[in-house]
Amino acid sequence: MFLVHNQFNWEEPFDALVLGVWDQPVRWNGLLGEINEQMNHQLEAIFKAGEISKKEKSIGSIFTLGNNGARKIITVGLGKKGNASIEIVKESLGKAFKHLNGKAETICVELSSFLNDSLAAEEVSFTLGEALALSTYSYSGYKQKSNEPEKQIKQVTVIAEVEEELNSILETGYIYGRATNSARTLVNQPGNMMTANDMAEYAKNLADTYGFKAEILEKEDMEKLGMGALLAVNQGSKEPPKLITLKYQGKPEWKDVIGLVGKGVTFDTGGYSLKTKDGIVGMKTDMGGAAAVLGAMEIIGETRPEQNVVAVIPATDNMISGNSFKPDDVITSFHGKTIEVSNTDAEGRLVLADAITYAKHHGAEYLVDVATLTGGVIVALGSHITGAMTNHEAWFEQVLEASYEAGEPIWRLPITDKDIKRIRSSKVADIINSPGGREGHAIMGGTFLLEFAEDTPWVHLDIAGTATSKSSYELGPSGATGVMVRTLATLVEGFTPVK
Ligand code: BES
Ligand code: MN
Ligand code: ZN
Repeated sequence: MFLVHNQFNWEEPFDALVLGVWDQPVRWNGLLGEINEQMNHQLEAIFKAGEISKKEKSIGSIFTLGNNGARKIITVGLGKKGNASIEIVKESLGKAFKHLNGKAETICVELSSFLNDSLAAEEVSFTLGEALALSTYSYSGYKQKSNEPEKQIKQVTVIAEVEEELNSILETGYIYGRATNSARTLVNQPGNMMTANDMAEYAKNLADTYGFKAEILEKEDMEKLGMGALLAVNQGSKEPPKLITLKYQGKPEWKDVIGLVGKGVTFDTGGYSLKTKDGIVGMKTDMGGAAAVLGAMEIIGETRPEQNVVAVIPATDNMISGNSFKPDDVITSFHGKTIEVSNTDAEGRLVLADAITYAKHHGAEYLVDVATLTGGVIVALGSHITGAMTNHEAWFEQVLEASYEAGEPIWRLPITDKDIKRIRSSKVADIINSPGGREGHAIMGGTFLLEFAEDTPWVHLDIAGTATSKSSYELGPSGATGVMVRTLATLVEGFTPVK
């Protein structure tokens, strides 16, 4: 996808040249000066006339009328040079690529125009690769006539002074973006096309491609092992559940294992605690956590870090039938703890309970679970920030650091002794899946999972608000966002044992 050159090639015809423009007087030297000369100083005139906005994320389009190697110049406003964060650059590039997708096949990006004192060529190159994949993503679903544009960006030539390594950095950024897109597609798939079995097949394919060990537990296996929580959620379904495990060993010994656990509820009706007819729409996205884990495994398969990872995904839908589990039922988890079911719509924590225990059985010493767990987290933090809970400060710091690096913000909610008391307040079982009332119910979700993570360093990520976007944005269309794919991969890449 990428070529790195240290000079603009005037002989090569590009569909577009992409230039970053800071909010400061333009210096008419270098490439810009050359183009200006070629254009009989018309470029300077266009800037002087105030036609080109230098505001953050504003796109300008200048036709060169065949005067130089590029048919069009796309300017990307970046705002004040001192202020720009890598996120602004990512979104600005995303907006430019989105604008060009469908119109251009070969584009050229002048990298130095996007750099400042704190943004180095390496960091911006990674971001460029990511932004290209993310911003041009679309999901065509099952339309007979695809809505994907015919003309797609096929080649990006990056003009940069430092040539070494940039190519592989660009490609790695592109891998991160594409894996995020894979997760988006999994989430965008309708529930009837992405059953537990479909997800297991997808995971097996991933394992074949990257040489992971794959293990799929069937319903009978779960019955033998006593995975009563996962089985209860599946009880009313005609689609058998699957417990998907993928193992990647990047160290000589199977130690310091990172366990990634993703909620894979392929459709959540709420069960007998039935959702409303409005609340049920969109619940095909309730496997966003599973998709994040699978997306991260794709990156891990590509980049092959020297780490050990076990991914565990409990996959099932949550349906109604004469066989379904129901409120007041008491079930026994794989761990052994008994659970009073007060709400069948608090099913995510049930399937995750058994998956977390299973990840520990596979040697996970550090855990992160990712789940579209509660509407409560959306009320608390909105749709741009993922809720986080933990039992381990240093492990949380690593996850926070990774999320910051990936540009996927998280914010921590507390778990107190009083919360633990609420989860343990059942009169008939060890714990209850949804203690009455809506008070702090995102925290209740996390606290329930803590009963299964126990002393293993663990971070819970509630992505109910961030897994989907109602509207399109610079780095993607409306629908699934693929959130946490890049955070998990970044976490694994940079992991150091903290115990
Ligand atoms: N899958 C939902 C959470 C959810 C809500 C995800 C909205 C995405 C958008 C989860 O299984 C659920 O139903 N949670 C309940 C928990 C409650 C019963 C304690 C909720 O949020 O109402
Ligand atoms: Mn639910
Ligand atoms: Zn759910």
